[in-house]
Amino acid sequence: MRGTIRKQSFGKTVGGEPIDLYSLTNKKGMEVSITNYGATVVSIQAPDRAGKTADVVLGFDTLEGYESGKAYFGATVGRYGNRIGGGKFSLDGKTYTLPQNNGKNTLHGGITGFNKKVWKAKEMASKDGESLELSYLSPDGEEGFPGNLSVKVVFTLPAERNELIIDYRATTDKDTVLNLTNHSYFNLAGEGNGDILEQVLKLNAKKFTPVDQGLIPTGELRDVAGTPMDFTTSTAIGKRINEKYEQLVVGKGYDHNWVIARAEGAKGLTLAAEAYDPKSGRQLDVLTTEPGVQFYSGNFLDGSAKGKGGKAYGQRAAFCLETQHFPDSPNHANFPSTVLKPDSVFHSKTVFRFSVK
Ligand code: GLA
Repeated sequence: MRGTIRKQSFGKTVGGEPIDLYSLTNKKGMEVSITNYGATVVSIQAPDRAGKTADVVLGFDTLEGYESGKAYFGATVGRYGNRIGGGKFSLDGKTYTLPQNNGKNTLHGGITGFNKKVWKAKEMASKDGESLELSYLSPDGEEGFPGNLSVKVVFTLPAERNELIIDYRATTDKDTVLNLTNHSYFNLAGEGNGDILEQVLKLNAKKFTPVDQGLIPTGELRDVAGTPMDFTTSTAIGKRINEKYEQLVVGKGYDHNWVIARAEGAKGLTLAAEAYDPKSGRQLDVLTTEPGVQFYSGNFLDGSAKGKGGKAYGQRAAFCLETQHFPDSPNHANFPSTVLKPDSVFHSKTVFRFSVK
């Protein structure tokens, strides 16, 4: 036996569409639940150093929570993860106007992003273990973006390794822009178990992209050295978070894109981040083919959303490590391109690897 996959009903949307919850298990003590509503990771059970499992991601017990939620818990974010400045970009000489849902900017794909869509599910057996493929066809013009975009996200839990592998593929019939990510909120001590300020983070990045007041990158790639953005050595998330460094003030904490260090021209999976909870011993390594990672320290969580078991998730109750292309890339020629053309297939991969120490 390799692992198991179990499907159960997760209720019906307000519009009456039936939604399912798929639970994947492996042989190393992990269980991951994913719903086809928003292609959302609902729970990740991972063992601590004593072998005791806890759910290490924020979320809701019911579909209703996800339908009304505003924080993107566990969701697949698209078409464009993070912000597009002024809700505008031009491509091939044409200007596209997007809904402004975050001040005057567009955040996480617009008003009804991929996180609020019903995806088609297919259970698959891969050579590694159990997989769930979720697909969605985003029509031309949806939330202002050009092209019919066909997206497939495959979630795999290998039977013998404690990893959640997320593999994204997309094709379009018109030139478009695309930035897909997963918005899991991690608390390695277990969701609802206090804040993440004593959890330790290391980022494989020497530079980050500073932002303006609206959290739009200015275009600068700034060295982290000598700033509280320097996570090149393992540092507690809370150690410098309240410093008066201008970037931390505008972000209300960490809410920035770090530029993952890679050898020139290297593609493939690279270690982007390592997070560790000294108390439970849980470690999360994030590997990705993407050029950036948004480290968000849960600054906007305010306890108003009642999560699993009715728990109120307060400020900094979790951190996100959203692997991505840089925010607002369509408006910055010096950033890696997010343009997808009809003759190519978009492919991106991220691995959340769990261990203990
Ligand atoms: C991203 C953004 C944050 C915030 C969260 C969702 O991480 O950068 O500013 O909007 O998503 O609440």
